[in-house]
Amino acid sequence: MSIKKLLTGITAFDHISAGGLPYGRTTLISGSSGCGKTLFGAQFLAMGIQLFDQAGVFVTFEEQVDDIRVNLRTLNWDIDGWERDGKWVFVDASQKDDDTMLVGDYDLSGFQVRLEYAITKCNAKRVVLDSIGSVFTEFQEMNTIRHELFKVTMELGRLGTTSIITTERTEEYGKVSRLGVEEFLTDNVIILRNVLSDEKRRRTIEILKFRGSTHEKGENLFTIHPEQAIVIIPLSAMDLKYRSSSVRVTSGIAKLDDMCGGGFYRDSIILVSGSIGAGKTLLVADFINGIKAKQERCLLLAFEESREQLFRNASGWGHDFAKLEDDGFLKVVCIYPKYLRWKTTCLIYKRL
Ligand SMILES: Nc1ncnc2c1ncn2[C@@H]1O[C@H](COP(=O)(O)OP(=O)(O)O)[C@@H](O)[C@H]1O
Ligand SMILES: [Mg+2]
Repeated sequence: MSIKKLLTGITAFDHISAGGLPYGRTTLISGSSGCGKTLFGAQFLAMGIQLFDQAGVFVTFEEQVDDIRVNLRTLNWDIDGWERDGKWVFVDASQKDDDTMLVGDYDLSGFQVRLEYAITKCNAKRVVLDSIGSVFTEFQEMNTIRHELFKVTMELGRLGTTSIITTERTEEYGKVSRLGVEEFLTDNVIILRNVLSDEKRRRTIEILKFRGSTHEKGENLFTIHPEQAIVIIPLSAMDLKYRSSSVRVTSGIAKLDDMCGGGFYRDSIILVSGSIGAGKTLLVADFINGIKAKQERCLLLAFEESREQLFRNASGWGHDFAKLEDDGFLKVVCIYPKYLRWKTTCLIYKRL
């Protein structure tokens, strides 16, 4: 039997992880700077509170608490309110100028006491330790600190929390972590990547392993949305199960409808191919006009010409795109496709 999981509430993560994070255990999230580790951790806590009424503790070793608050402000998470209600507790373990570092000189016992106190105070079910890299820079003796962190993870398990520890890596492919933490955090590992490819950034999430449990293998794309935070696009969810329709939609050209046996099938995608000046955009303009006659609506995404060019050309063919827009039959969006792929996808979903 597979081990128990805790639903995270992070869009599509629960799908690719086959049910969430391993319950009562610690998962290591590794990734290069800026790949979204802190955000993932914060989202894990925010969703816990919003969707499951589970309190959480966020330990920051690196960023100041106020900086984290400011960075997360766009996401409409009421962290201040949750703190007042005792559902979200920050433990500030970041190094301060006055040298009041939480950890002791030789061990993490002082820190452990504070962590335990925070967890019991709010009855936390979720804990995030972000990121442990700075703990290592404080200590000379790497093995000692690994041992100390191992004790912390054991304690987290004893307290029944499901936890995330984040760590840095310098390369997108290669060693899991530059600090060798995977030597003791071996059971559950997730890698976030932010790869530069073809002049664009490609963010992916890979569940490297969950001990004793199934999950999807390989990289899944994700994006960071200003309001929804991390949104994963699981390839496996794209089942080819769409229904097909036998309803015909007019092409806007009577002769072409006859040639197609009564028009295009609804739900179909028609590829119109031709050399420059062959009449591709003209065919599009006729199609839009035909839809108007049926009182339907059309979204036109133009990847080559500007609005003005399109409208001018359409008027040359006797179609008034501006009026169609005013009457609510048409919405024209002109964008350069390569860099705005995500925006286009959002727009289509919104309109559907
Ligand atoms: N509130 C936000 N709104 C939009 N984008 C954000 C927000 N917070 C973070 N990001 C994006 O996520 C990226 C990574 O954030 P972060 O989680 O701090 O990375 P890491 O902790 O891995 O260094 C940022 O560079 C930014 O592009
Ligand atoms: Mg971070």
